[in-house]
Amino acid sequence: VVVPETVPPVEADRGRFEQILVNLLRNAAKYSFADAEVLVETQVTPTEVVISVTNYGPGMTPDEIPRLFTRFYRTREAEGSGIPGLGLGPYIAKGLVEAHGGHIWAESEADKRTTFHFTLPRAME
Ligand SMILES: Nc1ncnc2c1ncn2[C@@H]1O[C@H](COP(=O)(O)OP(=O)(O)OP(=O)(O)O)[C@@H](O)[C@H]1O
Ligand SMILES: [Mg+2]
Repeated sequence: VVVPETVPPVEADRGRFEQILVNLLRNAAKYSFADAEVLVETQVTPTEVVISVTNYGPGMTPDEIPRLFTRFYRTREAEGSGIPGLGLGPYIAKGLVEAHGGHIWAESEADKRTTFHFTLPRAME
């Protein structure tokens, strides 16, 4: 976890925030090379906090990334490897993030690493 000592407060439901983060962390662990680390980082902008989860694993190809956030989508790699799953995780995370007024996106380098980023609006101080 590479997070500064103080991160400004965000406007979010605690339980839903946990659901989003756990969802991304579970997938990061699930689609990782053996013993690879998972990295959690934050970045602060004037209006938002960006939370990023990176893992080192088989990743995805560019054509698969936009399809990730649709219901029941699983990558060829995930299907082919026999790892069980439903394909609802990123779809649910997107719904929750957007309900908070944030956005979520992914970037991936096949056979190398994947990062999911999501934003939450900063709370009025
Ligand atoms: N960090 C990641 N690296 C590589 N592929 C990923 C990653 N996160 C998600 N995916 C891909 O997105 C698909 C959808 O993720 P989702 O969490 O919905 O499914 P799952 O983990 O296979 O199933 P479930 O969460 O129901 O056990 C996965 O099947 C996998 O193909
Ligand atoms: Mg999952």
